[in-house]
Amino acid sequence: MATRPAPAPRPAHRLTRPDTRVYVGDCREILPRIPACARGEVDLVFADPPFNWQVKYDEWHDGLPRDEYLRFTERWLDLCVDALAPHGALWVNIPDDTAAEIVVHLKNERRLHMINWCVWHYRFGQNRMGSFIQSKVHALYFVKDPKNRVWNPGEVLEPSDRATTYFDPRTDNKKAGVNGLRVPMDVWYGRYWGRIQGNNAERRARHKNQLPEVYLERVIRACSDERMLVLDPFLGSGTTGVVARELGRRFIGVEYSPANAASAFERIKAGAVRVRKGEPTRQVTAIFPPRRRGASV
Ligand SMILES: C[S@@+](CC[C@H](N)C(=O)[O-])C[C@H]1O[C@@H](n2cnc3c(N)ncnc32)[C@H](O)[C@@H]1O
Repeated sequence: MATRPAPAPRPAHRLTRPDTRVYVGDCREILPRIPACARGEVDLVFADPPFNWQVKYDEWHDGLPRDEYLRFTERWLDLCVDALAPHGALWVNIPDDTAAEIVVHLKNERRLHMINWCVWHYRFGQNRMGSFIQSKVHALYFVKDPKNRVWNPGEVLEPSDRATTYFDPRTDNKKAGVNGLRVPMDVWYGRYWGRIQGNNAERRARHKNQLPEVYLERVIRACSDERMLVLDPFLGSGTTGVVARELGRRFIGVEYSPANAASAFERIKAGAVRVRKGEPTRQVTAIFPPRRRGASV
């Protein structure tokens, strides 16, 4: 006798205009049952999984044996790839320990194309004497088809060092409408880009490893259009959801902990702190003070 397909799960929390859904459970169990994921209709996936660093995530046990963690990683990666539309993009936020394994899996097993291996650099890494202090996480950007992807460089431009530090006249490209601006480099840092801790205005109580809103703003603006569907299988404090909604994208988030999911939903309802729909956030990221006007580059 044929077995019936499992019924579609009900979102624990939901908003409309644009459609925003939060599901509670293990993403490995939930994703294949969400119709849009099963049909491969997701335009953009952003995944910031547990790093297996013994973080206290309310309910999730963040200390699996290494083999088990790798099997877990490959499973959710596969489900995210399956959920993606043919033009879709997958971003993964992951530290040094497992970045290489993820890249090899996505390239060799799933035949995805890597567009960028970005680095999110933050200044307040934990102090240590035994090796250099860790101050980065990898932001891996993959697509199914490099010739058919959503890419909006004009949405994420930032002031170029050549303009702000050196006053280089070659940056005055008024014709292209990008006067003094450039696509950001692949190492991301700057004002508002620090780890969210202490009395940061974005901080959500009780959440571990909350990402800055501007990080998600860059990913979502660059790799999706309004009304497209964004998926985050590890919702946490809800950063992807709150930014996606602010920017008019439809959203699906999955979170293992019911308490985290409820808190993320409250945040999504309340709206973003930093990111605003109209104007993209733009900051100078030059590390040298402006040189004398007219000095040679
Ligand atoms: C690194 S945090 C995500 C942080 C998020 N990007 C933010 O900005 O707040 C990982 C989250 O995934 C959740 N989680 C862990 N394993 C999960 C699973 N199998 N399915 C769904 N959620 C899971 C944890 O409870 C935790 O809230």
